[in-house]
Amino acid sequence: MDNELIHLGIIMDGNGRWAKAKGLPRTAGHLEGLKALKKVIRGAIEEDIKYLTVYCFSTENWKRPQEEVKYLMALFTNKIYGEIRTFNDLGVCVRLLGSRNGLPEKALEALDRTVEETKNNDKITLQLAINYGGYDEITRSVNSLIRDGYKEVTAELIRSRFDNPDIPAVDFIIRSAGEQRLSNFLLFDSGYSEFGFYDRLWPDWDEEMIHTVKQDYLKRTRKFGGLV
Ligand code: IPE
Ligand code: IPE
Ligand code: MG
Repeated sequence: MDNELIHLGIIMDGNGRWAKAKGLPRTAGHLEGLKALKKVIRGAIEEDIKYLTVYCFSTENWKRPQEEVKYLMALFTNKIYGEIRTFNDLGVCVRLLGSRNGLPEKALEALDRTVEETKNNDKITLQLAINYGGYDEITRSVNSLIRDGYKEVTAELIRSRFDNPDIPAVDFIIRSAGEQRLSNFLLFDSGYSEFGFYDRLWPDWDEEMIHTVKQDYLKRTRKFGGLV
């Protein structure tokens, strides 16, 4: 079977540890993490990956110190839109994944503007998972079906009410910084995805790491419950 890597999901972890090791505040790790993301997007385009979903902020990350949450919200408000030229030069179409509930108005405005101004790019789709949680994704979908009068659901119906049902399920979920867990990322669509765990801290990632990731994926055999 053809093992095409169409959709890569990344749990970008280790920003805090990277900063700590350098004697810097955790926020410096987040800023460097954004630089790493730009390199990774380039690597993904080089590898002809069509969808890249990156976990930027989980529904559980609100538990972090207020100062860190504020810094991350400011990153989403200012820095992402600040990359609009890069996105347009590279052909990156930005989409949002996650709950709008609780996100500052200013961040939503900037993110919506980024989505709007990149919507015609077709080299790669970058799905930003912000205020995203797998439990929340499934619950929101089921509640919307209940509101529409459904008494029974199917897996297809549940998926059809996700934020971006047109985006195919993730093929390969990878995580940086050595942790081996999902942390509520893509719970539903990870049903049959492959997993890869890498020790390197997120701010140290670059194009080269994505070439390695692609090679690792190509070694996998996907059976989806069947036989090959
Ligand atoms: C990932 O890095 C970024 C976010 C969760 C926003 P962390 O901030 O979790 O870094 P560590 O795990 O503390 O090193
Ligand atoms: C997962 O990382 C969330 C993001 C990468 C945005 P965390 O660092 O928040 O996850 P846990 O708490 O270690 O599971
Ligand atoms: Mg972490």
